[in-house]
Amino acid sequence: MVELQTPSIGVGQTALFVAWMRQLESDRPDALFRDPLAAAMLSALAEDPVLADVAEVIKQTHDSAAGFPTYFAVRTRFFDDEVISATRRGVRQVVTLAAGVDGRTVRLDLPAGTRWFEVDLPEMTPFKNALIERSGLPLACERHGVAADLREDWRTPLRAAGFDPSQPTVWLIEGLLMYLTDAAGDAILTGVSELSAPGSRLMLEHLKAAMLEEEGRPVRERVEEQGASWLSARDDLTSWMGGHGWSARVYAGDDPRIGYGRAVAPLPACWLATGTFTRPADAPVN
Ligand SMILES: C[S@@+](CC[C@H](N)C(=O)[O-])C[C@H]1O[C@@H](n2cnc3c(N)ncnc32)[C@H](O)[C@@H]1O
Repeated sequence: MVELQTPSIGVGQTALFVAWMRQLESDRPDALFRDPLAAAMLSALAEDPVLADVAEVIKQTHDSAAGFPTYFAVRTRFFDDEVISATRRGVRQVVTLAAGVDGRTVRLDLPAGTRWFEVDLPEMTPFKNALIERSGLPLACERHGVAADLREDWRTPLRAAGFDPSQPTVWLIEGLLMYLTDAAGDAILTGVSELSAPGSRLMLEHLKAAMLEEEGRPVRERVEEQGASWLSARDDLTSWMGGHGWSARVYAGDDPRIGYGRAVAPLPACWLATGTFTRPADAPVN
């Protein structure tokens, strides 16, 4: 049996929380997606006390921010559809920054030849690699787990893992930017743009500024109980992404146009953005 070293408390635990949310969605008869890796995680960690902590946070989230859990289902399906649409248009390279226990590399219907790089902290990447191996789930793509701290140099390990900056890339940044400072988020976007070839797509989530105020307190407290903190939020995604070379389309997380018929809680919560790279084709790729 492959050994699993559970990520310690803190922002790593938020990945277990999100995976559990995906498991709850997967169990619904009208599920927006089904994530077998989330089920494999719950089964693998069944005896691990960390799950009791996560269960308590989930219960409190349901109680204090009714409907907020639905947001995770909508967010997941929204980005699923965006990734699939980009691969249908020919993109064959995907990078998730802060992949956590996201199961897309085992559950999406991806074209042959898709290469997917999943970057996360050095304590999370071996956990995820081992979890996938132990689950026995077949990969839907050529997957590379990359151990890197996104506040430091992540581009070198990404390239060392085989990432090709001359190819168009789908970038996915979900559940990360709020845990980093504005400066760290900005540096990540700079890196993403420098590694993006024409035809690349960027998908990201960010927190609405109001979530750092009183309105966001019920959810913020749940995050802090997991040992994590929100350090950043912004309402200027169109201009922020635009300044980095991305023509963005931004939706509120509770926008019914992307809700698949689900009602997300009446909290300001998050933005979901997609961007098309607008840098001229002759600009150098780093
Ligand atoms: C809320 S989880 C989201 C995971 C995944 N994107 C998902 O939606 O399931 C946050 C993730 O960010 C990762 N993370 C936090 N800070 C990081 C950093 N400085 N460098 C790399 N990953 C980081 C954590 O390890 C965790 O997996």
